[in-house]
Amino acid sequence: MSYVVTGGSGFIGSHVIDALTNAGHTVTNLDIREAETSAHRYVKADIRDLKVLTDIFSHHGRDGVFHIAAIADAREALLDPIKTMEVNITGTACVLEAARRAQVARVILASTVWYYNAANHTHDPERSAKGEVRYLDENEPISPQGGGHIYTTSKIASEVLCHDFQRLYGLDFTILRYGIPYGPKMWPGLVLRSFLECASSGMPIRIFGDGSAVRRFLYVEDLAKAHVLALKEVARNQIYNLEGERDVTVKELAETLAKFVPNLKVEHVVDVSRRGELKLQSVAISNKKAWRELGWSPTTELEEGVRRVVEWWHKKETMDVTCTK
Ligand SMILES: NC(=O)c1ccc[n+]([C@@H]2O[C@H](COP(=O)([O-])OP(=O)(O)OC[C@H]3O[C@@H](n4cnc5c(N)ncnc54)[C@H](O)[C@@H]3O)[C@@H](O)[C@H]2O)c1
Repeated sequence: MSYVVTGGSGFIGSHVIDALTNAGHTVTNLDIREAETSAHRYVKADIRDLKVLTDIFSHHGRDGVFHIAAIADAREALLDPIKTMEVNITGTACVLEAARRAQVARVILASTVWYYNAANHTHDPERSAKGEVRYLDENEPISPQGGGHIYTTSKIASEVLCHDFQRLYGLDFTILRYGIPYGPKMWPGLVLRSFLECASSGMPIRIFGDGSAVRRFLYVEDLAKAHVLALKEVARNQIYNLEGERDVTVKELAETLAKFVPNLKVEHVVDVSRRGELKLQSVAISNKKAWRELGWSPTTELEEGVRRVVEWWHKKETMDVTCTK
């Protein structure tokens, strides 16, 4: 089958392209910037260019379009809300409209579990005190007051647009709500990468607060595999959470990294630019639907995932040094 991936030069998109290619599909990457290394067809285009999108989708994406391009860095979204709305919302509208015109079979949208920041009860102090956890599934209602972040709002709006295009024009979708991915090719600003950058320059790694903040990190190749499974018929017009399997504190992440990077130094800091991020304290995101319907669950253990990231980082550093010589 033949698919277009928007944002295929980016961290997650590049792994999605690999997963689709390994599954025997033909893939075209549509992105404003070229991939660092790629053997795939590449089209340099902005997702807001409706004419180019329609043309590319008609020729290469009739079987499906994976819409992954976005302003993905929440801090960048805070700094430039208008650009975030233009790229993430108008961009998604253009992708959907081009898909409609090109008669694309389905659009698969990259969304986020930050969606649940707009749910009514992300923090329940009573439940938290009892050590109880409530799992949020894809049917969790959200409040129109929004997710408390420009980035989250742009993703909720993108999801709503998918529903509109389905109801109004019959364009099918699958929405994938990603947890926090880590892995080779991750960008500066994502936690493990910033740890590695500090360690490489002999600086202490910076942990926000006491390191007890919990995340459910998801190895990016596990996430990418879900995109192949999402092509199943059962996933038509469905939403899936794709979340890491277990709670990992930032401290544990640092300790795991220390197994592969000797003499790691740690500094604890406060960062106000992280306001509005998803904080799960008595609630967690359920992967059950993805397991039940797609047969998907993450399989890469944290230690193995971190090992692969360190391996990639060392290769990248060697390449960067070679290139600057
Ligand atoms: N990385 C995360 O932690 C995370 C978590 C949840 C959801 N997501 C979502 O996953 C998707 C991919 O994120 P990522 O981490 O790979 O980000 P990334 O920045 O590595 O990749 C995004 C890609 O989109 C491209 N792009 C941006 N604007 C474009 C435009 N106007 N036209 C064409 N291409 C454009 C960029 O060049 C880049 O290659 C995004 O939709 C993001 O919101 C990411």
